[in-house]
Amino acid sequence: MNSVRALVLTEYGGPGAVKVSSVEAPTAGAGQVLVRVHAAGVNALDWKVREGYVRNAHPLQLPTVLGIELAGVVEAVGPGVTGLREGDRVMGPLGGLGAYADVVAVNAANLGAVPDALDFVAAAALPLASVAAWQSLNFAGPIHAGQRILIQGASGGLGGFAVQYAHQAGAVVFATAVSKHVDYVRSLGADHVIASDKEQFEATANDIDLVVDVVGGEVLNRSWSVLAEDGVIVSTASPAILESIPAGRRGLWFMNTPDPERLHAIAEDVVEGRLRSKVGAVVRFDELPAAIERNRTQPQVGKTVVNFSL
Ligand SMILES: NC(=O)c1ccc[n+]([C@@H]2O[C@H](COP(=O)([O-])OP(=O)(O)OC[C@H]3O[C@@H](n4cnc5c(N)ncnc54)[C@H](OP(=O)(O)O)[C@@H]3O)[C@@H](O)[C@H]2O)c1
Repeated sequence: MNSVRALVLTEYGGPGAVKVSSVEAPTAGAGQVLVRVHAAGVNALDWKVREGYVRNAHPLQLPTVLGIELAGVVEAVGPGVTGLREGDRVMGPLGGLGAYADVVAVNAANLGAVPDALDFVAAAALPLASVAAWQSLNFAGPIHAGQRILIQGASGGLGGFAVQYAHQAGAVVFATAVSKHVDYVRSLGADHVIASDKEQFEATANDIDLVVDVVGGEVLNRSWSVLAEDGVIVSTASPAILESIPAGRRGLWFMNTPDPERLHAIAEDVVEGRLRSKVGAVVRFDELPAAIERNRTQPQVGKTVVNFSL
């Protein structure tokens, strides 16, 4: 068997449920390319999948390879692919699992070109967080100047981009983060940063037109009280929002869709300095199980990225 290194989930559970091992090397099916992965982004979904939180919504056959976004080089092109060639530098979400492997078969339609000036670690930090931030902010309608927007969980990957887009649109931006992350979130353009470990956000945020919730749970439940009369909550974290919308209120569950053109434009904005993309930590492949667990227990600013070359 031709095999590649991969991070495999063997059973649902804690950090010990994922192991670095070998899996059969993939081949490129119709519409797919094989990508030699150079870097991959760590996401909250990794530990949610590991723990089994999404097993009902997305049943998996275990063992399976974790990881949902990557950056690398096209190594082979499958039947029917026209836009990509061997040697192209690409990045994108998989639209499924399997990014934590040395070689991955990816739908070509998901992949955007990595600008020359961006290295693979920087590229791997972008696909999900940056595009999902844009899409979730505009999910209930295009955002515009003067809106009062609250980003719940603003120091992470998605939240950090959402703060910048909302600020650039001319919105009044409210944002929550733990105390040690407050200065960072303010530096992204938030007008009011609320230290979630010291203050109740309800004391500062009111008459909010749009809440983007990346946290869920109690934070989401409390967010209804700060909405303007015709305000809306868009949750990226909790599909359960749809079962808990108070009468007369508007709440939406958001799911991202691949958008390679927007991803490429965002990457150009990062290169040109119009947008900040924060890589908070770079880890080795064998450090992935611990990095995924850290994302659950001690979120840091920005993204964690695994560099396959270390
Ligand atoms: N539906 C979709 O299409 C989609 C796409 C991408 C991501 N997501 C989801 O969106 C969420 C965010 O993703 P991400 O990649 O940005 O994750 P992340 O980088 O881990 O950031 C999440 C942030 O939430 C904050 N947080 C955690 N607990 C909190 C609490 N109790 N109160 C306030 N803030 C809290 C943390 O910041 P502090 O430490 O500063 O509080 C953390 O930085 C995840 O749930 C992920 O699964 C969904």
